[in-house]
Amino acid sequence: MTTVLVLNGPNLNLLGTREPETYGTATLDDVEKSCRAVAAEFDWDLDFRQTNFEGELVDWIQEAAEEQRSGELVGVVLNAGAYTHTSIALADAISGGDVRVIEVHISNVHQREAFRHHSYISPVAAGIIIGVGVAGYPLGLRALHALTDG
Ligand code: DQA
Repeated sequence: MTTVLVLNGPNLNLLGTREPETYGTATLDDVEKSCRAVAAEFDWDLDFRQTNFEGELVDWIQEAAEEQRSGELVGVVLNAGAYTHTSIALADAISGGDVRVIEVHISNVHQREAFRHHSYISPVAAGIIIGVGVAGYPLGLRALHALTDG
């Protein structure tokens, strides 16, 4: 069965209580459920993860590259949180492994502080979904489907 990987970076475990005026009140469990429903539509297995550690995200992207190469993985929906704006290592892992990544941000980062306007992920992402709240995650799965099955 084809797998889709959803990766969440730092502080996204606090979704639901963290700055709800910016990120809403849905929890990461709610997000996982909404992704699971779309994955089931496409007959995909969902692998949904969160970490506060940059290196762990890099490890997971490297593993994803292997799995994508062997045809087991359709791609990755990635909300790298603040590492979006800082992590060359993460961008290198994506481009080095040629991983199909849909970059997701819950908030419209371009309406926020200037330091959030730059993303190291965007140039190496297959697509980007920004500012539509947690609905961006299941849309990210649909984007992977459109890119691979369309
Ligand atoms: C975020 C935006 C980032 O700037 C921030 O650091 C996050 C969440 C978003 O989903 O809107 O942690 O990626």
